[in-house]
Amino acid sequence: MINEKMPYIYYGGDYNPDQWPEETWIEDMRLFKLAGINIVTLPVFSWAKLQPSEDTYNFEWLDRIINLLNENEIDVCLATSTAAQPAWMSLKYPEILPVDKEGRKRTHGERVNFCPNSMVYRKFSSKLAGELAKRYKDHPALAVWHIGNEYGTTCYCENCAKEFREWLKKRYGTIEELNKRWNMSFWGHTVYSWDEIVPPSYLNEMGKNEYQGIQMDYTCFQGISLDYNRFMSDSSLECYIGEYKAIKEITPGIQITTNLMGTFKTLDYFKWAEYMDVVSWDNYPGITTLPSSTALRHDLMRGLKGGKPFMLMEQTPSQQNWQPFNSLKRPGVMRLQSYQAVAHGADTVMFFQLRRSFGACEKYHGALIAHAGHENTRVFRECQTLGKELSMLKDKTIDSVMKSRAAIVFDWDNWWAVEFSSGPSIMLKYVQQVEKYYRAFYSINISVDIIRPNDDMSKYEIVVAPVLYMIKPGVADNIKNFVRGGGNFITTFFSGIVNENDLVTLGGYPGELKELLGIWVEETDALTPEMKNSIKLLNPIGELNEEYQCGLLCDLINLEGAKALGVYGKDFYEGRPALTLNKYGEGNAYYIASDPEQEFLDKFIKHICDNNNIGSPVDATKGIEVTQRYKGNKEFTFILNHNDSITAVNLKDIEYVDILNNKKLSGKIEIDKKGVLILERIKN
Ligand code: GLA
Ligand code: ZN
Repeated sequence: MINEKMPYIYYGGDYNPDQWPEETWIEDMRLFKLAGINIVTLPVFSWAKLQPSEDTYNFEWLDRIINLLNENEIDVCLATSTAAQPAWMSLKYPEILPVDKEGRKRTHGERVNFCPNSMVYRKFSSKLAGELAKRYKDHPALAVWHIGNEYGTTCYCENCAKEFREWLKKRYGTIEELNKRWNMSFWGHTVYSWDEIVPPSYLNEMGKNEYQGIQMDYTCFQGISLDYNRFMSDSSLECYIGEYKAIKEITPGIQITTNLMGTFKTLDYFKWAEYMDVVSWDNYPGITTLPSSTALRHDLMRGLKGGKPFMLMEQTPSQQNWQPFNSLKRPGVMRLQSYQAVAHGADTVMFFQLRRSFGACEKYHGALIAHAGHENTRVFRECQTLGKELSMLKDKTIDSVMKSRAAIVFDWDNWWAVEFSSGPSIMLKYVQQVEKYYRAFYSINISVDIIRPNDDMSKYEIVVAPVLYMIKPGVADNIKNFVRGGGNFITTFFSGIVNENDLVTLGGYPGELKELLGIWVEETDALTPEMKNSIKLLNPIGELNEEYQCGLLCDLINLEGAKALGVYGKDFYEGRPALTLNKYGEGNAYYIASDPEQEFLDKFIKHICDNNNIGSPVDATKGIEVTQRYKGNKEFTFILNHNDSITAVNLKDIEYVDILNNKKLSGKIEIDKKGVLILERIKN
């Protein structure tokens, strides 16, 4: 439980008292109390203030604010402040400053602007974390630790090159093995000593493609580029682990986190989560972000630790400053999005930020307290209302879990490999594909877990692995066991192609998944965005009937045991299989050979769900999101209305208690626009 000290959903967020005179702190306490704030995250960016020089620390101001918060019965999410090193440190130890992909040494400034392999950085950051732990270990306000902030630098300096070689030695043992794993006889890349290996950057293997104004990285050598991504993710993780250990030793009972960023490409968050006590993340949807996209990211964050509740560490109460268009959250939207997080497994609702800065780039970023400085604002009132509600919920939903019968596979290595791939299409984007399949479940309110390809699949009835291009050791067997035991597995074009080093599995695609899928992919056609083909159903499947548009990639398949359920509608491969089913053991393995329109996926996924009696707990129309969390014998059903109008929902004849309004509900009801219901039911 994150909230051990306080039997409430933690409600609060980032606060920068060092940007304000101390008189303001007193007023802030009044406003925090008024808004129902019970946790404050600090000091996230105060390293320069906490450590004015190499041998001096200045904690007195921090003591004062933490004591003040404690007097006001507000807990502290204690940050280690290490995301932006002090200028004196960069000046004295230039090795701390990173080198970018263009080969340019960066100068001091911004934030997360350090080389993750700088031992100076690691030493000073874990030292500071340890000092903070020593000082506040017994402080009654200390609730959670927040290390760094949004890790994610990549660096190409000499030091990183050196460490990369060590990392490779550990992974491959000999230079011969490395040559083999990276297929270095291609373009005469064979190396004879570790020193010959240099980080892949724009100075060598990497380049930029441009298509319709969007720039995309490419690499000439997937092997080295993939390993460099892995190494960089591990390098930042080492920085985090250094601080983690320094803190854990002193406060073993307090949970430690760092704020993640959803589908953030640079870091393999599944690996990171192994070293986090609790996952936390920063959710910044824009005004046009689909609710399903946000839901997917919540589910991914919950999936990182196998379904454990997570912290919503940051969201804005109103607007961002860094998006192209920083629209205001419309009335009710902040509340709706807060509950959406809870509905997907969050046990905290926290903001960036509590008081709006008055200088630098975040001065137009939303906050609980506006520049006006008082509580008479729409945003404050909405936050205050939510604070009241959350305090009424007490610990009811805290620690409750979700139960999903379907899962979607997500894998960072696979993501990197798919998008490093030179061919078949520049338009193939991994997360986009995952989103399409996720949306199909979301639109019928079927709960989905996001899992790794190696995770135990036996508790699911349906597992979807969109574009599972890379098959790492053990993955093919894992999936086969799942299907053999009766599972339904769905995968797509461009799957089963390569191993963990991006070397093709010879003998025909989809390589290690060929037998399971009962097909052989002979060729893959790439369609321009204007080109379309279609999938023609041979017989209706559930609500799927006749013909649906497809594009992007079209695999040309030969059947080797599988049955065609649909075929291409045109081109020279008209009539060849586009959708196949292979019976394998007790289960079913489906292959979708092209990228179909959303309607096809919606109906296809619905059909598989119907077949397995997986349905929504509530009859809902478009724009209504339904999820459930469970705790002991209690079931909590969250119903969220994303529509701009009052929407009807049918609760059927089940009797629920609406715990935000404390009244009984059943049958046909209506939910306000942007409204939320949390319904409790005892299940025996
Ligand atoms: C991130 C950071 C915060 C702040 C917000 C602004 O999430 O962690 O420090 O900059 O963005 O949206
Ligand atoms: Zn470096």
